[in-house]
Amino acid sequence: MSARQQWTDQLMPIRLRTAGAEDHERVTYFLDAMDREGLYQRHFAHGEGPNLALLARLAAADGIDRVAVIALNHAGEVLAHAEYVATDDGAEYALMVLPELRGIGLGRRLLVALQEHATAAGQRRLHGMIQAGNTPAIQLALKLGFRVVPGADRTTVIVSRDLEPARPVATVEDRRGAEPDPLPLALHDPDRTPLYRRPGS
Ligand SMILES: CC(C)(COP(=O)(O)OP(=O)(O)OC[C@H]1O[C@@H](n2cnc3c(N)ncnc32)[C@H](O)[C@@H]1OP(=O)(O)O)[C@@H](O)C(=O)NCCC(=O)NCCS
Repeated sequence: MSARQQWTDQLMPIRLRTAGAEDHERVTYFLDAMDREGLYQRHFAHGEGPNLALLARLAAADGIDRVAVIALNHAGEVLAHAEYVATDDGAEYALMVLPELRGIGLGRRLLVALQEHATAAGQRRLHGMIQAGNTPAIQLALKLGFRVVPGADRTTVIVSRDLEPARPVATVEDRRGAEPDPLPLALHDPDRTPLYRRPGS
C-alpha cells in the first residue's frame, strides 16, 4: 500500500467491491454527481443514453464477462466506477472517478481491482479506448503496464495488456521477434463495442 493510499484511507476510508443490479440507485446518484466533461471522456458521448446503457450493463453483471467494480465511502456512496465487458477479443474496460476525488489514487486502485477480477475470471486481455488528449487516463494505463497505440482516427488511443495467466511460459524461440497481436481497430468504434453501445444504436 502506498503512503498516499494510507493517508487517504485515514481521512476517508474507502472500500472497493463488485457491483450489480442491487446498486442501481447508488450508481444513479454517482452518475448525477459526475461532471459533464468527465462523462464525455468516459462515454465518448453526451446525454442520458450512455448512462442508461451503463445501468443496463450493471443489471446484467455476471461476474465473469460483464463486471463492474465500485469504490464506496463509509456512507455507502459511490465515488468511482469501473467496468469491463468481454468479447472474443478480450475485455474492454473504462472507468471514472468523481471530479473532486481525482488524483488521490482511486483510479489506480479501481483499475488494479478490475484487472485482478478479470484475471481471476479467466479473461486473457484487457483493453480500452481513451481520447488522445486524456492525459490522466493514458498515464494511469501506462503506469499499470498497458501498451498504448494510436486509434483509427488519431483522436483516440487504444491501451491494452495481456493478463498474467493468459499464455503458457514462452520459450526463447517463441519470444524472438514476437510482437503482441494488434487489436482490430473496428473494435474500438464507440457505436459498435458492447461497452459503448447504447439502447437503440
Ligand atoms: C482517468 C481517471 C479515471 C484517473 O483517475 P484518478 O483517480 O484521478 O487517478 P489516480 O489518482 O489513481 O492516478 C493514477 C495515475 O494516473 C496518472 N494521473 C492521474 N491524474 C493525472 C493528471 N492530472 N495528469 C497526469 N497524470 C495523471 C498518474 O500517472 C498517476 O500515477 P501516480 O499515482 O504514480 O502519480 C480520472 O481522471 C477520471 O475519472 N477522468 C474522467 C473519466 C475518464 O477520463 N475516464 C477514462 C476513460 S477510460
